[in-house]
Amino acid sequence: MNFTLKVWRQKSPELEGVLKEYPAQNIPAEASFLEMLDIVNECLILKKDDPIAFDHDCREGICGACSLVINGVAHGPKRGTTCQVYMRNFQDGDTIFIEPFRGKAFKILKDLVVDRKSLDRIIQAGGYITARTGSAPDANSVPISKEDADESMDAAACIGCGACVAACPNSSAMLFTAAKVSHLSLLPQGQPERKRRVLKMVEQMDAEGFGNCSNHYECEAVCPAAIPATFIARLNREYTVASVTAAAAGVK
Ligand code: SF4
Ligand code: FES
Repeated sequence: MNFTLKVWRQKSPELEGVLKEYPAQNIPAEASFLEMLDIVNECLILKKDDPIAFDHDCREGICGACSLVINGVAHGPKRGTTCQVYMRNFQDGDTIFIEPFRGKAFKILKDLVVDRKSLDRIIQAGGYITARTGSAPDANSVPISKEDADESMDAAACIGCGACVAACPNSSAMLFTAAKVSHLSLLPQGQPERKRRVLKMVEQMDAEGFGNCSNHYECEAVCPAAIPATFIARLNREYTVASVTAAAAGVK
């Protein structure tokens, strides 16, 4: 298969970027999108050109590192991560636009690589579980309803990719933050710091420059972990309750 790529090239955060055109030729239909970029980069290296910088790690849809906007959609044409997109998802001869995840809190480091440490700082702001956990308890010794366990597991599926931010017209990180807040607030072990956690995480989210949710649902549409926007409603409830009761409970 042959393609024409229009790729965002940017040497450093300070310099302006530009879309540049590259041919991608003799690409096997079974190649993944990232393997296609590997082939293009091999050609660029042979020509002593600067290879295209892009993020990746597991290439199995687990780590959340791969982060490309393909033809205007975060992670491209298929529900999943960029590394799960295959060239058979395109037509031979297609022109494909490849850009980095964009957002005020995602600084472009080089080409298609953005700094997503702002998401890590939101998690760090949530802190840790202070209750001593001791050795591993017997299974089911802490009763948790099936509904709560299922919902908590759904929230914990977030891989921190940042596609929700890239897709949102407000660059909101509320789906990500909602997932992180929810998966602990639904479990007994998460109760001692429940209010403090949501207040700190939302404070950090705002400090990083992420916008607020205004119900576009673009985050839900691109989330590779299929996390529903209903978690944002849960985040709002958690935050409201924590704000109202924080002073009375002596939470700082
Ligand atoms: S909520 Fe979904 S899109 Fe957002 S960071 Fe988590 S997995 Fe990625
Ligand atoms: S490279 Fe790990 S999820 Fe895509």
